[in-house]
Amino acid sequence: MAISAERKISEVPGPRGLPVVGSALDLLRDILGTTLEGQRRYGDVVRYVAGPPGPMRVIAYGIAHPDGVQHVLAGGANHYAKQDAAYREIRALVGDGLLTSEGEIWKRQKRLIQPLFTHSRVADYVGMMSEESADLVARWGELRKNDGTVDLHSEMTRFSLRVVCRALFGTDVDRIIPVLRDNVPFLSKKAFTRSLAPIHVPSRWPTPGNRRVKRAVSEVYGVVDDLIASRRASPGPARDLMSLLLAAQDPEGGLGLSDKEVRDQALIFLLAGHETTATSLTFTLHLLGLHPEIQQRVRDEAAQVLGGRLPDTADTRHLAYTTMAVKEAMRLYPAVYAIPRLVVQTDELGGFTIPAGSVAVVGPWVTHRHLEFWEDPERFDPERFTPEEEKARHRYAYFPFGGGPRACIGQYFSMLETIVMTAVVIRAYEFSTPPGPVKLFTGITLRPNQPMPCRVAPLG
Ligand code: HEM
Repeated sequence: MAISAERKISEVPGPRGLPVVGSALDLLRDILGTTLEGQRRYGDVVRYVAGPPGPMRVIAYGIAHPDGVQHVLAGGANHYAKQDAAYREIRALVGDGLLTSEGEIWKRQKRLIQPLFTHSRVADYVGMMSEESADLVARWGELRKNDGTVDLHSEMTRFSLRVVCRALFGTDVDRIIPVLRDNVPFLSKKAFTRSLAPIHVPSRWPTPGNRRVKRAVSEVYGVVDDLIASRRASPGPARDLMSLLLAAQDPEGGLGLSDKEVRDQALIFLLAGHETTATSLTFTLHLLGLHPEIQQRVRDEAAQVLGGRLPDTADTRHLAYTTMAVKEAMRLYPAVYAIPRLVVQTDELGGFTIPAGSVAVVGPWVTHRHLEFWEDPERFDPERFTPEEEKARHRYAYFPFGGGPRACIGQYFSMLETIVMTAVVIRAYEFSTPPGPVKLFTGITLRPNQPMPCRVAPLG
């Protein structure tokens, strides 16, 4: 990072914001715009002050340069921990699963769970993803309103919940989906709003909000616990993730996961894999709907690779242009737009001191628009992801799935899901999206904050 090595913490540039509350309101109102402008104006390490002086004040450092991102995610692991407010709240709601745990507990979970997400294991789900995509094609045939529109985001949210639930629970999917459909997004939203709240009502107080959370948690726990109990009672040959979690054995010591641990992991997969993938799917189709020529290239590739078949795993490797388009959609709309870490040991970054107790935030939204690495960054251009371009670019100029030891375990799963769905629906329909800005909601994940109408016109 091109920053002098002698600077001190007081010199880290950043907006002063308003008296007393600093940048809190700007960040709450528009975190994407505020942090992007912060990077453009102040550089690759930007200091934000949010909240009144005292224990409620948060000092956050936005780290935008890929070198800094790499350092936080992959290099300086001892200095950064998942103990910031957002991760604390997720942990309070869904426990210590792979996403939230740390230290020895995380290492053990990772040893147990990693084998469930190898490429060959995940490839087992491609048939199911293809089936669900074909169902979507049929569903849109009936669902389209008179003018031929569907709401992409609600359709993709439904689709990704079905896919992640089928992967997790196999044939029990129809029993469990109604319970999860409302409760999982509610819990995810709750974790986010609680992480921002300046004053915390203890969760044991019987306020209406706390009661609703308790009810949602017990409904979700109830249905997952029932399923675990029935699988333990009669273990079958099922290949779904739940069965694999129940059978997993630690290579060091041979112990498996307890029922509670299996439940926590399952909930983490739902929380981490449902809304995120829905956002990727939505924006992939939305952007293709805005760019008819790119859309046609994706369609031509699907026709050439698949003919009239549904994709299998081998096909997905040949859908190269489709993959490039999906990656580019995730550059522009990274579902995880910011990744926070509590600084647990004072660190040096880009010549600045980043003090213990502050929060370091690396943000795909900002780095994916960094002018040093992306020309005309707002333009949708899948050509940015040719193998040559990818090879020439800094590894951490693009990190929709995070990086380092805590990188997303579900990235191959969600890429396959998005590629398969796109290839199947694009052969059946022509998509057109109305132009204009999209209002975004920035909770724990990024998603549209408005309906996403898209005209789907049957082809041939
Ligand atoms: C487009 C879809 C997805 C995106 C953008 C995404 C993004 C991310 C990111 C950025 C991280 C790192 C978080 C951090 O470092 O603090 C992460 C971690 C994780 N993701 Fe995903 N994810 C997606 C889909 C999935 C799916 C489908 C699953 C599971 C079925 C999943 C499970 C996880 C888990 C368990 C972790 C924690 C890994 C660890 O800490 O060892 N994700 N994800």
